Amino acid sequence: MNIKIKNSGLTQQPHWPDLEQVNQITKMIKEYPNLVSVKEIINLKRQLANASKGDGFILQGGDCAETFTEFSNDMIQNKLKVLLQMSAILQYVTKINITKIGRIAGQFFKPRSSEYEFRDGVKLPAYRGDAINDITFTKEHRTPNPKRLLQAYHQSSAIMNLIRNLTMGGFTNFTNINSWNLSLQEKSEYVKKYNAIAKQINEMINFANVSKDFLSSNIHQNTVYTSHESLVLDYELAFHKYYNKKNYICSAHMLWVGDRTRFLDSAHIDFVSQIANPVGVKIGPSICIEDIIKLCKKINPKNEHGKISLIIRLGINYINDILPKLIKTISQNKINVLWLCDPMHGNTIKSESGLKTRNFDTIKQEIECFFNIHQQQGTIPGGVHFELTGDNVTECTGGIKNIQDNDLSEHYQTACDPRLNNEQSLEMGFLIAELLQKRRIASE
Ligand code: PEP
Ligand code: CO
Repeated sequence: MNIKIKNSGLTQQPHWPDLEQVNQITKMIKEYPNLVSVKEIINLKRQLANASKGDGFILQGGDCAETFTEFSNDMIQNKLKVLLQMSAILQYVTKINITKIGRIAGQFFKPRSSEYEFRDGVKLPAYRGDAINDITFTKEHRTPNPKRLLQAYHQSSAIMNLIRNLTMGGFTNFTNINSWNLSLQEKSEYVKKYNAIAKQINEMINFANVSKDFLSSNIHQNTVYTSHESLVLDYELAFHKYYNKKNYICSAHMLWVGDRTRFLDSAHIDFVSQIANPVGVKIGPSICIEDIIKLCKKINPKNEHGKISLIIRLGINYINDILPKLIKTISQNKINVLWLCDPMHGNTIKSESGLKTRNFDTIKQEIECFFNIHQQQGTIPGGVHFELTGDNVTECTGGIKNIQDNDLSEHYQTACDPRLNNEQSLEMGFLIAELLQKRRIASE
């Protein structure tokens, strides 16, 4: 069955100078091997369905924008490590199965609020992600170049290769927990807490090596799934696979639609309505409560579990007002969704130095509100969605080191939005573990 891209409601697309070249390149990619398999997509969907019912929890995270320059073995391994470390904390403390989904191996496309960027009276196209143009502010670099789609494909496939190698070689297993903390030279409270957990897991594994039951438990399987924003639809379509009377897009296991492109009659919503992959929908403060039902029915007419994840990114100023209304509407209409919390995108501010930042406490508060509201409504907070990195960047303020506005420029490396650094991510891991413990107590 063919997938159609609707022309109306198609926003946030690059102005390619040569459409014929785009066609040629997407045709080539269509012939290339897919990045993920249908079987893996179906497995992830099952885990999302389980988490939506309270069995398991989702940890989704990674860069705001992956770049072509951050492409070394160590850099990619570091990105995986931080997800693994957080999931180890969550799984060890709560004994809940954690499904890990990276914003990785394809997160090269960025929606923008403005078409153009102005600097010193010069007007150039906005940066739209490395798959489209280069962040350097010159006409040549900012002009969309379809050859970059090819580079995005090749880089994604090399990253997938590394993820699969690491998974098959056992790196992602808990038995390897000691090799996940190499970048953590600091001896802060949370690093110490993490190391203590790593030690306990090690002892448990040594002890359990004699126990067959333990060996067959899921502590030894540790898949990392992939996801990215489904933005440039011609590129996504090159990964179409028709299997068992269903359409799949095999560029990633999960695709999401951003807050700017999730309006009811958008081409992006129409696109994800035609596919069987699990789909995330970002929900920001401009959401119209009445639209949410129409949106879900359009994407998921059969009301399947695991198909839709609503990724709530309302920000601390709106979550208490809007989320309860959303939950009530969804519950009254018996719509099946997984509720995820993205506490990053609704809380972006400009620091005094002019850099985009987010404050650790604000992020923490939005997560706490998310869990509290679900508890009050009797629904399930099913997971979290972060922008984070395994490197010791200074992009978000606060956290254990109490990064200040004027520290931001020290290691500010993101190509787009500010990310939690390694230590801030661990701190967040412990906080979520506590909230999950409370979720369990509340449901007992
Ligand atoms: C993002 O996830 O990087 C993003 C742009 O999010 P949103 O669509 O929620 O603004
Ligand atoms: Co972002």
